Formats: sequence, structure tokens, C-alpha cells
Amino acid sequence: MGSDTPEPLDAAPRADGFSAIGRVAELDAAGFIASKELSATVIRDPANPDTILGVNSLCPHQGCTVEWDGESEFICPCHDSKFAPDGSVTVGPSETPLPVLEAKIEDDLVLVKAS
Ligand code: FES
Repeated sequence: MGSDTPEPLDAAPRADGFSAIGRVAELDAAGFIASKELSATVIRDPANPDTILGVNSLCPHQGCTVEWDGESEFICPCHDSKFAPDGSVTVGPSETPLPVLEAKIEDDLVLVKAS
């Protein structure tokens, strides 16, 4: 571990229900932040990069973890369901959208209300 490693985040939910999923620098470097622990992924909205979007990353079809493709959609590695940035289904077999999670930026933290 390098000496410039930032302090680990406390992902425990705060009193307001939001949990820290990562830092803004991480979001901007990778274009997304995913947390298996929170079953959440936060991205910058491709249509409006000033806005961030959060989804529950468990595929409604059979519960695999979807992955952000870095550009425009979430893809499920198990049966290739695809979802738009707002979680809506674009390609099945999933018939159910990814649940949207509240997400926001506070200081250098990216916060999500995982449920
Ligand atoms: S579990 Fe995601 S498409 Fe089947």
C-alpha cells in the first residue's frame, strides 16, 4: 500500500441514510464507482455530466451484478440484459428496470442511498 493511499471510506449508512461509495476523483477518473458491499453503482449521467445517477447493481433477472460499460449502458454479464443510465431496460431478458438510488456529491465524497 502506497503512502498516498487515501483513508478508507466508512461505507456505513449515515443518519440521513446516505453511504459513501467513493470519492469524486475516483468517479471522474473511472467514470463510475461500483460497490459490491452496497450493491450500488454511481455514474456521471452521459447526457449531463454535471448530474450523477445511482442504481442498484443487482440485475432484476437473476441477481448478477451489472457492469457500467463506461459509455452508455449497464450490461449484465450473465444473460446480457442491458439497461440505460436511468436503469430502464433496453434489452432483456430482464423485464424489470434497475432500481434507481438517490445519489449526491458532498465535498469530495460521492454518496448514495442504498436500500
Ligand atoms: S441475471 Fe442479468 S440477465 Fe440474467
